Amino acid sequence: MPKARADARTVFVCQACGGRSRKWVGRCSDCNAWNSMAEEPEGPEPAAGGDARYGARAARAEVRRYNEIDVAAAARVPSGFGEFDRVLGGGIVPGSMVLVGGEPGIGKSTLLLQVAARVAATAGPVLYASGEESEQQVKERGERLDIGDAELYLLAETCLERLLEAVERVRPALLVVDSIQTIYSLNLSSAPGSVGQVREAATHLLFSAKRSNLPTILVGHVTKDGSLAGPKVLEHVVDTVLYFEGERHHSHRVVRAVKNRYGAVSELGVFEMTGAGLLPVSNPSRLFLSDRAAGVPGSVVLCSLEGTRPILVELQALVSTGAYGTARRMASGIDHNRLSLLLAVLEKRAGLGLAGEDVFVNVAGGLEIDEPAADLGVVAAVASSLRGRGVQSGTAVFGEVGLGGEVRGTPQAGLRVKEAAQLGFTRCVVPAASHSRETAAAGCETVGVETVEDALDALLGPS
Ligand code: TYD
Ligand code: MG
Repeated sequence: MPKARADARTVFVCQACGGRSRKWVGRCSDCNAWNSMAEEPEGPEPAAGGDARYGARAARAEVRRYNEIDVAAAARVPSGFGEFDRVLGGGIVPGSMVLVGGEPGIGKSTLLLQVAARVAATAGPVLYASGEESEQQVKERGERLDIGDAELYLLAETCLERLLEAVERVRPALLVVDSIQTIYSLNLSSAPGSVGQVREAATHLLFSAKRSNLPTILVGHVTKDGSLAGPKVLEHVVDTVLYFEGERHHSHRVVRAVKNRYGAVSELGVFEMTGAGLLPVSNPSRLFLSDRAAGVPGSVVLCSLEGTRPILVELQALVSTGAYGTARRMASGIDHNRLSLLLAVLEKRAGLGLAGEDVFVNVAGGLEIDEPAADLGVVAAVASSLRGRGVQSGTAVFGEVGLGGEVRGTPQAGLRVKEAAQLGFTRCVVPAASHSRETAAAGCETVGVETVEDALDALLGPS
């Protein structure tokens, strides 16, 4: 049971927003988060408030005319990985701060060490500050990654002031801090990882980044529910937030931007974890389709779009008669509610008897798909499994399904069909509305469909 009242020298701080309270409360009065108050020692509050603490660190800015600002001066630094650059919007922006989040053991340290080594080889010295591992441990990993003798400096330091001192000394072209939750400032007495410390460290690193135009990459831990640990302010402070995802049992990893001041957020970078570290995957469709057994009932190839890049993935469905009265519906990789909706459409508009059947849908390879264009793939996979009939070989599909059973148009149809053609697919079932000159020119037969029933006929043959 948490103590109901803080001692004279402690205070309860909301770990979600940084709100403070003298007493323990179940719900933060600032951000309404439940159970987020943690007791922290009350550090000496700086007497003169924000100005004295941060004022000296910030560079003085001049008012400048829009036309006089030179954009070319902010040329990006290539990270050495095309896949990583793509997510960043074309490379690392000088003076920007990037936060990379991900579950423990997913490969954050591995990726950033590889990036650090490559930037060191091209752009100048890189400082890799590791608060979680000793220099020896980092080097051991480096040997496995075979990063050679780049101008890479390691620092096993968790004290913010000493870290900033080292930055002054080394004057690196890139700073990596692994992880922000281990960094503490001497000015605060709360524990590393607490909201105050994380905010303090991030703010000072931000000033340092902006002042000396030093790109900084922070590693952030995620909590059990998958969001970034620490205060939300951290996500506001940084310029870019990347998530590093993947399933432990699959070798591929995906880097996704959820916030980016310097590029699109929908971009995706795909890597494969190998014995020698992370390798960029330039053709993810091939990876996601590699284990596919064609012609099996319930398996459908979907042309999905992640950012600007088309990706073919396999959707699998299994329909089997439920044993326990209530039918079970499980979805992995697609939204559960969307699946329920599509099953209702199949039942009502295409006359499929799904009541009482267990339905399982899975995106092979552990990818998450959240675009409506996946609808037709889900519908086809479920119908294919129910009827025990495989989809015609060499056929891919995409399209949004409406509640009336109509198939709606999908953006970038030409790009999707082209990707399918490149991977040897000979036929695409597409929304009639997206059927255009562009899709016809893509080098693959396209069949435009207007309703779910038409689509099922085109994919599985007449029922
Ligand atoms: P790591 O980068 O330490 O993860 P994080 O920093 O996100 O916690 O990665 C650890 C995992 O990566 C570990 O399970 C082993 C695996 N790995 C490889 O498969 N190959 C390699 O070359 C390396 C360095 C790690
Ligand atoms: Mg790590």
